[in-house]
Amino acid sequence: MPELKLKHIPLTPRIGSQLDIGRDELLSGDYAADIRKILVERGVVVIRDAHVDDDQLRHIAATLGEVRLGQSKRGADGVTLNEGEGGVLKVSLDPEINPQYARFLLGNHLWHMDGPYEAIPPFATLFTPYRMANVGGDTLFASTYAAYEDLPEEEKDFLAPLRAVHTMPASLFPSMRNVTPEEFAVWHSYPQAVRPLVWHHKSGRKSLVLGSAAAWIEGMHPAESHDLLQRLTLHATQDKYVYRHKWQAGDLAIWDNTGALHRVMPYDLASKREYHRCTLNGEEPITAVGRDHAVN
Ligand SMILES: [Fe+2]
Repeated sequence: MPELKLKHIPLTPRIGSQLDIGRDELLSGDYAADIRKILVERGVVVIRDAHVDDDQLRHIAATLGEVRLGQSKRGADGVTLNEGEGGVLKVSLDPEINPQYARFLLGNHLWHMDGPYEAIPPFATLFTPYRMANVGGDTLFASTYAAYEDLPEEEKDFLAPLRAVHTMPASLFPSMRNVTPEEFAVWHSYPQAVRPLVWHHKSGRKSLVLGSAAAWIEGMHPAESHDLLQRLTLHATQDKYVYRHKWQAGDLAIWDNTGALHRVMPYDLASKREYHRCTLNGEEPITAVGRDHAVN
């Protein structure tokens, strides 16, 4: 990595760094360029004792990129965005806190990336606890850059032309087996998206595009497709590519949604766990290996 003003301590060899920075420095924006570099390189960054409120969360997010806005608004690509009030979304499975989306968020228990249905998926998310779970509720992150980089060359060649179909039913059904026909109809109304299995980023780096929404590989026999996606997901989420974050009050975590999968571990719903998040707009479409970035 080029020379940085900001110090960071790796949390595991392949993913995750803790930043040596305080709230005032975060708010100043003076270190934003360095935070972005470390974030993309390390997949997730953690700041302990940040203790940011919603306004500060929004402000810090705006130093790092373009804050996503929108409440229950269907975008041009048919995807409904819900980014909460002024770009701060309250993430909770408690229907009292989150009446519209609590059940949808059950899908967060599975490995996923945010927004694979969107033409340009979100770049990054800032996440801070408002009320933590008593038991459980750790967040796990897996580096899809590192997982790709370690594949044998012949497998990289095999995967390069493949594309996966991402669907809302695939992402939600495994965590919501008691779905009602009405709910299923809502899931089904979401557009499917076909995305390259390997993302050739503008930076030149490549990552796997996986997650629970990846339902099947276009043009492949369903059984082979199922086995391939399962095998790649198990590969990408091995311990050596994963950072497990145990939350403390005041934490601020930021993850690169374009190079990492994430999931929350089960927790006691009575804890009324509530986190506040701010998401940054994506900056590039998922581009296949060998495709011109300008035309995809
Ligand atoms: Fe998510």
